[in-house]
Amino acid sequence: MIAIYPGSFDPATLGHLDIITRASKITSRLIVAVLNNSAKKHPMFTVDERVRMLTEICGHLPNVQIESFSGLLVDFAEHLGANAVIRGLRAMTDFEAEMQMAQTNKTLNPNIETLFISTQAEYSFLSSSIVKEIAVLGGDISSMAPSPIIKKMHQKINGGTGGGEEKHGRTY
Ligand code: PNS
Repeated sequence: MIAIYPGSFDPATLGHLDIITRASKITSRLIVAVLNNSAKKHPMFTVDERVRMLTEICGHLPNVQIESFSGLLVDFAEHLGANAVIRGLRAMTDFEAEMQMAQTNKTLNPNIETLFISTQAEYSFLSSSIVKEIAVLGGDISSMAPSPIIKKMHQKINGGTGGGEEKHGRTY
């Protein structure tokens, strides 16, 4: 099975890495696909930065490749020859939106199946937004994001080697 794991990944958390790791064991090839959504107002990281960070934290997983995409997910999946979309499910609160997305994608392309992987309990509360908020407020995120990503977040927040897409408004 060739599968695609799409998301915003701004930035990837340990929950994302857990899903990638587990999905890579049941797929021959897994493409982690970063949505290039220029309409999003205040990303912390550019799409290129997200791709680079994911490439770094997935370096030990030989059947995982990282790409960015724009447009419809099912079109990108078909272009790559993927026949499955992987999504993580944290709690019931995810269910409604995920079902809607899965059924939309199924309508758009009946050949592509959506498979849900349940998030490990220890990561079930995590989201990129929560991790960013805690980091910006100076909290400890060491149990929430991979260490190379924590380093990049701190650089961004402290104005180090920043350079996110949004230059005005927020500081990252
Ligand atoms: O990490 P996210 O933000 O929950 O990921 C959402 C994502 C990227 C999977 C979703 O927005 C997406 O697939 N966007 C591409 C546009 C698309 O295909 N839309 C129709 C299906 S909802």
